[in-house]
Amino acid sequence: MSSEIFTKVNQIKEEIENAKVSSSEELEQFRIKYLGSKNILKPLFGEIKNIDNDRKKEYGQLVNEVKQIAEAQFQQVKETLDSSSTENIKSSMDLTAPPRPRPLGSKHPISTTMNRIMNIFERIGFVIEEEREIEDDWHNFTAMNTPPDHPARDMQDTYYLMNDPNRLLRTHTSSVQARVMKKQKPPIRIIAPGRVYRNETISARSHCQFHQVEGLYVDENVSFADMKQTLLYFAQEMYGKDVKIRLRPSFFPFTEPSAEMDVYWGLKNEDDYRITKGTGWLEILGCGMIDPQVLINCDIDPEKYTGFAWGMGIERQAMLLYGINDIRLFFENDVRFLQQFKSAK
Ligand code: DAH
Repeated sequence: MSSEIFTKVNQIKEEIENAKVSSSEELEQFRIKYLGSKNILKPLFGEIKNIDNDRKKEYGQLVNEVKQIAEAQFQQVKETLDSSSTENIKSSMDLTAPPRPRPLGSKHPISTTMNRIMNIFERIGFVIEEEREIEDDWHNFTAMNTPPDHPARDMQDTYYLMNDPNRLLRTHTSSVQARVMKKQKPPIRIIAPGRVYRNETISARSHCQFHQVEGLYVDENVSFADMKQTLLYFAQEMYGKDVKIRLRPSFFPFTEPSAEMDVYWGLKNEDDYRITKGTGWLEILGCGMIDPQVLINCDIDPEKYTGFAWGMGIERQAMLLYGINDIRLFFENDVRFLQQFKSAK
């Protein structure tokens, strides 16, 4: 009898030592079996009275040892499970800690400059028109009175879509003029901001992508004087009441007469010299009275209506306003550059 019961206790001891407990459910089963109120060791403790006297002590020690092994194993597994549970992560979180502020983003200086320009024209009744950047030949060139042999159509300047000579990345926002005049009849008063593309060598002064804001005004009795007044108003709002502007005669296929407008920026520092090519004058836009052929192309009667248009470049204005000396910075999206414009509105 005695040796049988010794064997049984030793079996349980071995069972405990080899028990695989790796989840909290298994741990609970382990607890119930070896340490719970009806655990399998309990009756074995009761057996002590039936053991021969000379082995009583030995038996008592063995059963106690098995119980301790079960307890130790239970504790060890419990600690391992606790430290990996989410319960534990939660208790190590300080819910009263103040939140860490998220870093504020900033508006891109090109967006800020375009928004300023759009606000100025919106105040005098111009409506914003946004159009596609992938254009067809007709809206970008033909409608704008640019004949097929015009140098601006050269493959050197224009990005055509692969295998499709009719589809291209617009080279100027003037394509929006044709889009608008085709679907809307005078009076028309719109501005069209957006990105344009030209196959040009990238340098500190020029890029293959840049931004323009186009303007178009078509109605009865619109004159060159109206155009000059509108553009002077713009320059004063943008550069201050004392700004000086000048219009120089120029040529564009879609306007007649045509002009380019400069604003006097001055020569305060080295960047001013470079960007204004040492003159102090900054050329910001091309403009003119809409060529009658353009109106005809867009089904508008040139006998009844006249109009003016302009297209202004954004990058050079932004470079002067923010003192930026390299156009490439606008397109690199380096946060060290962009973060400097946090306070710009
Ligand atoms: N599209 C011309 C360019 O990209 C700019 C321009 C000149 C636009 C005269 C006009 C205009 O609307 O009337 O260089």
